[in-house]
Amino acid sequence: MTQHLADALPATTATRPGWWREAVIYQVYPRSFADSNGDGMGDLEGIRSRLPYLMELGVDAVWLSPFYASPQADAGYDVADYRAIDPMFGTLHDADAVVREAHALGLRIIVDLVPNHCSDQHEWFKQALREGPGSPLRERFHFRPGRGPGGSLPPNDWESIFGGPAWTRVADGQWYLHLFAPEQPDFNWEHPAVQDEFRSILRFWLDLGTDGFRIDVAHGLVKAPGLPDLGRDEQLKLLGNQVLPFFDQDGVHEIYRSWRKVLDEYAGDRIGVAEAWTPSAERTAMYLRPDELHQAFNFHYLNTGWDAVALRGAIDDSLDAMRPVGAPTTWVLSNHDVVRHRTRFGSLARARAAALLMLALPGSAYVYQGEELGLPEVVDLPDSVRQDPSFFKENGQDGLRDGCRVPIPWSGTEAPYGFGDGGSWLPQPADWAGLSVEAQTGDPSSTLELYRAALRIRRERAELGAGDAVQWLDAPTGVLAFRRGGFVCTVNTTGEAVRMTPPGTVLLASGDVADPGVLEADTAVWWQG
Ligand code: GLC
Repeated sequence: MTQHLADALPATTATRPGWWREAVIYQVYPRSFADSNGDGMGDLEGIRSRLPYLMELGVDAVWLSPFYASPQADAGYDVADYRAIDPMFGTLHDADAVVREAHALGLRIIVDLVPNHCSDQHEWFKQALREGPGSPLRERFHFRPGRGPGGSLPPNDWESIFGGPAWTRVADGQWYLHLFAPEQPDFNWEHPAVQDEFRSILRFWLDLGTDGFRIDVAHGLVKAPGLPDLGRDEQLKLLGNQVLPFFDQDGVHEIYRSWRKVLDEYAGDRIGVAEAWTPSAERTAMYLRPDELHQAFNFHYLNTGWDAVALRGAIDDSLDAMRPVGAPTTWVLSNHDVVRHRTRFGSLARARAAALLMLALPGSAYVYQGEELGLPEVVDLPDSVRQDPSFFKENGQDGLRDGCRVPIPWSGTEAPYGFGDGGSWLPQPADWAGLSVEAQTGDPSSTLELYRAALRIRRERAELGAGDAVQWLDAPTGVLAFRRGGFVCTVNTTGEAVRMTPPGTVLLASGDVADPGVLEADTAVWWQG
């Protein structure tokens, strides 16, 4: 396998030193992006063939959700072999081709790394099961005897994020910990073999030329000593609200300091992005200290509703929290785990306005595949096609993550709308023809052309992504207005049109702007001020 150093990229935003500070990063969910072989499942060759689309869209980097060998108990977040591609997605050669062609087009590639847990089909876990209690191989995971008569109760009271106890009993009577599905045993990160193995996995993908990692459940790797009880149920309600014995333990930072050293051994600004659910923006910032990771997802922003006061608060809090550690703030509206923001916010108008707001903020922004098409959540999937593991459990995450994972429409008038030649692993709605890339291309009123125009302006105007502050301007109730150098963004989050003195000339608008003195309902406008 040849090595493709990121510094061989052609000159674009993505080649600048510190490119990630203001990068727009597009999330590809490989199952649902493009299917090259007609099996109804997206794959790496499909992704490779669509890279020119992403280049033309104007993003800087692509984050690929997992494509590793996996029994797919959690759509690939259950990894059986971290150095192999699942045959459903292709081969290592295909992965190499994606990285090489992306670089040739000026796009960076970030891959998903899943270090908190593996698959129960991972060789280490299978060996640990075979070797039995007391075997050193069991120490790479969290095996414990049970409590109660005959050890028939779980070792502690922790609940799985997907519902039910976080422990499963094996035939010899021991229990193992899994914060997610039973098919996803948690690694014991105190064990040196686990630490060494993941540094080696990092190097494997860095050697292949990838530009960094999105780190799954980055806050979960270290558990409190002794695995203490939480002492309450409904633990899901606590996630992201407080430090828990299994989440956001201070010990995780040592791991990221060691990973940062590995990343820095490589030329070309390779990065680590934390998926870290923490109680506060300040605790998230701890993952981004100068000797740790580069970015973390801003779930605080993602969870903020369509409300001017709340949005302004989330923006200020995020910028304030990151400034002391010198890390860029990130912004995200949708991903493969949440209801698409068009549906969350209640309308396409709001989704379009939210996109212009996000893309006008300093720092890095994440775009989830299909949001540039204005896709809604698919809310009426029949239960028989659902695959989200928490759907099959009670009291877990809502279990409705399939509706944002439906394959995206590319062309044509009928499903699978150019996704592939052989259907799609989740059924697409019958009315998606008008939302396809083909249908929207060249239509100036389309959401796709809005994203293209916004990303083009963002590239042309250095002040958009750069810096760590916004200058708020006086605005009527329900309206956000801020200046960034010679650029102004105004956003009306209300359902009524508002009169405002135009702050300049219109660069781009998410809705009607026939009268520049009127900011229409649920509309954002970019101005040259
Ligand atoms: C992350 C992923 C999610 C997955 C979970 C367990 O939250 O985004 O899809 O189910 O981790 O790996």
